[in-house]
Amino acid sequence: MDAEKNPLDRVPQHIAIIMDGNGRWAQSKGLPRLAGHRAGTENLKTILEACVEFGVKYLTIYAFSTENWERPESEVKGLMRIFRTMFDRELKNLHENGVQLRHLGKLDRIDAALRKQVIDAIELTKNNQRLILNVAFNYGGRAEIIHSIQQIIRNEVEPEEVDENLVDQHLYTAGSPDPDLVIRTSGELRTSNFLIWQAAYAEWYFTPTYWPDFGKEELKKALLDYRERERRFGRVSSEDA
Ligand code: IPE
Ligand code: IPE
Ligand code: MG
Repeated sequence: MDAEKNPLDRVPQHIAIIMDGNGRWAQSKGLPRLAGHRAGTENLKTILEACVEFGVKYLTIYAFSTENWERPESEVKGLMRIFRTMFDRELKNLHENGVQLRHLGKLDRIDAALRKQVIDAIELTKNNQRLILNVAFNYGGRAEIIHSIQQIIRNEVEPEEVDENLVDQHLYTAGSPDPDLVIRTSGELRTSNFLIWQAAYAEWYFTPTYWPDFGKEELKKALLDYRERERRFGRVSSEDA
């Protein structure tokens, strides 16, 4: 590869991914939707390994939204089963590879066994530092902002003391930097309630590729695209300054 075009030159510190298109991937192969979710989970392993290899520090993945409960019960149940199996199979490996697991969202609606798996996994991996994996699971961006406001009100903060930092500190993501790059697979061009506060100045990358097919080479393409972006944060171009 051309040395000047190395996607790994300027790797984002924090990548967030809307892992979309599992259902359509399966349907395009004449398979049930749950087969797509299983393939998507396998692909997550690939992308996680690639992120560790590329030196990404934070990876946030959208696994299940607050709106996804509206899907047919059989799909929701199947998804929960897949998550449980994934924890059983993969946790040891993640831990050995220095991955720290964090959860974004609410655990109250999650069944007790899976909830315990999540809590135990967070405890087990809390000192790992190689890569922070935020799992957005039963997550909604609006619910997260409400959660932050509720905490602030509970602390009896004066209105004048409410600023962006304070809101940040009470989001599920407190302690993680904002995402630099948000990737959405499957061709949809919307946020679907993902990190609506934190992604205010993220770079977005959309690809028609369905999530189960979004492998290491596709991730490199996204990084190459990111590498060429100029992040201005409302200022003028650094070339004009
Ligand atoms: C994303 O894939 C996974 C979850 C939402 C859990 P989808 O299930 O949304 O796949 P499509 O968008 O229907 O193809
Ligand atoms: C967003 O995808 C949620 C996850 C990937 C977990 P959806 O498939 O639920 O989003 P919409 O319905 O297309 O907006
Ligand atoms: Mg979808």
